[in-house]
Amino acid sequence: MKRFLCPYHLWSYDLDGRLRGVLREQENVVSSPDKEGLSLLPVSVDCFGGFLFLNPDPEAAPLLEYLGQEVADLLEPYHLDEMVTVLDVREALNCNWKVVMDAFEEGYHISGIHPQLLRVIMIDPANSRYKFFDEHSVSMAPFEVADAEKYGPEEQVEGILELPETFPSVQAALPRFRELVASYRDDKGELNFPEGVTARTLLQRATRETLSGMGLDLSGLTDAQMSDNHGWVLFPNFFMTVRAGEATVIKAEPHPDGDPNRCVWHIVSVMWLPEEHRGAFEAEPIEVTEPGSFKYFLALQQDYEQMPRQQAGLRNRRLESMSLVEEEVVIAHYHSVIDRYLAGASRGAGDE
Ligand SMILES: [Fe+2]
Repeated sequence: MKRFLCPYHLWSYDLDGRLRGVLREQENVVSSPDKEGLSLLPVSVDCFGGFLFLNPDPEAAPLLEYLGQEVADLLEPYHLDEMVTVLDVREALNCNWKVVMDAFEEGYHISGIHPQLLRVIMIDPANSRYKFFDEHSVSMAPFEVADAEKYGPEEQVEGILELPETFPSVQAALPRFRELVASYRDDKGELNFPEGVTARTLLQRATRETLSGMGLDLSGLTDAQMSDNHGWVLFPNFFMTVRAGEATVIKAEPHPDGDPNRCVWHIVSVMWLPEEHRGAFEAEPIEVTEPGSFKYFLALQQDYEQMPRQQAGLRNRRLESMSLVEEEVVIAHYHSVIDRYLAGASRGAGDE
């Protein structure tokens, strides 16, 4: 029978947290009524989208109530709970956990930190879409070859073919994408897209056909959701970028040593795969103990290197406030929720 065993004094607990075994119990006068009061501290746990959520508050509202039905309904058509974990990495970082959240809540830094993404994420604030909930939010920037109208079809196609470097699961749709592209070449091999067809629409078609062909039900997702990543912030520390067939979650926690200049991030990528392939792709959890020894995929590696620099800047004692621009509206919303929680916190939240 499985139990929790404290390695220090060898007390053991049932999986529901009740104290069961006490070393030399008779000699240490732990009578059974006392044992009742010596259970592990309970925490609230619940599942959503295949993820286990934990709340240290045993009085926490049910998870679904906290997330809200609208959030649940918007995420349901992705079938996250059917996806398999293909990357699972935890590493301590030299920054506050909120620096991690901030880093994924805006695309304003893409030009500076992720120039490679400029080909596929259109930096046009007019085309970004946001939806704010009480605590949570979702944002979307079209997954489109930047300035597609300025580029010819060949450049658009090249942009898409470079995607797997940053979005590995695009790989699966590329064979069909190449076929579709080939069907628009004339006798001389020249590529011509008719009105309404772009590399983006072909990627969307290839993605829908490929994933549906493998057995994923995409009936609840729009064509835009075949290609566009939606960035979800589930307050307080769960960021997820999701599109048809894949998602990457970035979760940030305060560092267990209590230093507000440190945190632990946890990167989990999930991918939808037919049942027979799931085992082959399932990733084992990796705990990175040697900084820099794990190479994240390109965009994540760039954020990883930036965040400690951001932390150093935040510690500048002359800095009294930070300015945000329009494109960082998600950060503004996120911090307004934090402020709301801090204002309502009656039990002293400590230096976090
Ligand atoms: Fe970034």
